[in-house]
Amino acid sequence: EKVTSEIPAPKRQQNRSEETVDNVYSPGEVFENTPDTDTSLAHNREWGKQILARAENSDLGRELVEKSVLTSEDQVLDAVARAKKAGREWGSRPAHERAEILRKAGRVLGAKRAELLEVMASEAGKLLDQGDPEVSEAIDFANYYAGLAEALEKVDGAQYHPSQVTMVTPPWNFPVAIPTGSTLAALAAGSAVLFKPAGESKRCGAVIADALWEAGVPRDVLQLVQLSERDLGRTMVSHPDIDRLILTGGYETAELFRSFRKDLPLLGETSGKNSIIVTPNADLDLAVKDVVNSAFGHAGQKCSACSTVILVGTAATSQRFRNQLVDAVKSLHIAYPTDIRAEMGPVIKAPEGKLKRGLTTLGDGEQWIIEPQQLDDSGKLWSPGVRAGVKPGSEYHMTEYFGPILGVMTAKTLEEAIELQNAPEYGLTAGLHSLNSDELATWLDRVQAGNLYVNRGITGAIVRRQPFGGWKKSTVGSGTKAGGPNYLVALGEWTSQPASA
Ligand code: ALA
Repeated sequence: EKVTSEIPAPKRQQNRSEETVDNVYSPGEVFENTPDTDTSLAHNREWGKQILARAENSDLGRELVEKSVLTSEDQVLDAVARAKKAGREWGSRPAHERAEILRKAGRVLGAKRAELLEVMASEAGKLLDQGDPEVSEAIDFANYYAGLAEALEKVDGAQYHPSQVTMVTPPWNFPVAIPTGSTLAALAAGSAVLFKPAGESKRCGAVIADALWEAGVPRDVLQLVQLSERDLGRTMVSHPDIDRLILTGGYETAELFRSFRKDLPLLGETSGKNSIIVTPNADLDLAVKDVVNSAFGHAGQKCSACSTVILVGTAATSQRFRNQLVDAVKSLHIAYPTDIRAEMGPVIKAPEGKLKRGLTTLGDGEQWIIEPQQLDDSGKLWSPGVRAGVKPGSEYHMTEYFGPILGVMTAKTLEEAIELQNAPEYGLTAGLHSLNSDELATWLDRVQAGNLYVNRGITGAIVRRQPFGGWKKSTVGSGTKAGGPNYLVALGEWTSQPASA
């Protein structure tokens, strides 16, 4: 992880290695990640079925969504003014008070696990096995950032000044984990938050905001907002009292926000075009499983998803990997989340633009190994597609599709494969499947991505253990990672002060 320049040198050690930063800013105690629900147990499966039955006609969060819509410029200005005032008071509270509220938020989110799964399935098409880890991650963010807030206050020789107002604009694809994480980070740091959920996952946003209010976050400190028209978004984003904006979304959205306001302090994680390299020294069975999960989990709608698998040497020339891949992909049960057997669900809306192109057309020299099919009239349910013959520099090689498509590329050597892996302008996640330590060393030396995974899938970062953030055009702002030791640091400013002050 890059260490941001705002971090004051720790007093005891001048070395700014990640370890040092971690030691200084992390809470002293052992951090335990929240376990996911074990749906192999009969009673948990029963519990899951009841949630999914409710999801079919769920209206959770709707009332709150309606109340949160701002329809005029005056309302936007008023929301920002209230946030500024509330932020001043919130940021002046001792960190342990905020931390206590965050830890309570973690408990409330845990108690609302069923509700969160219901609203995610209903509104965003999330399968239980995809939504459940989001709730765990949201709870982890609460506990982890609570500890970081306390640690920040204890840094010797420097004083941390949080932003007063942070705007949070998360995406719809992780409608619980990402908005909750971004919001809690800003709250932990001591800032008020204007939380604007993605249009596709407003009700998820409402359930989250409600949980945080229930935990004791004051209403002006956390405001849930929807904007009735785009111009109001511009008014809010470009308001000089927005001290910082946390964005997770497409790179174009970051550019749009910057066109609204050039000096906007933007902290963001943007697009990805990610791949997994499989060498002849890989455990191929494991590689197939990880590629399939990373490519088609949540129908490929993850910035972290595996869009390309790059086969090296005999892994490319033998048919074994390809045959197993085809079997695994064809065996996926494709259905809406209300079917508990579903292994891949719908896309968020009927594909258009580049996703439509990716699902329906082939580039020069490409062939479908498995051709994707539209499975119903809604246009949202698709079987996954796998294309081979993807050429270096082709449209498929370089484009983020955000849907259930996987491309196969081949390389003669690992070095060549790494060049293919690094070629896209983004650098979010990257994977290597190899049991050979020399290959691992070569890869680690050359790969250009923020999140590296070896002999594992490339989605599903874990708070504290595997913080998440991008490189190249996958990040804007400081490059600091969510769920990592420097994240809160990047949300404020520092001044030095005498150690005794
Ligand atoms: N944090 C999400 C993942 O790692 C994007 O898959």
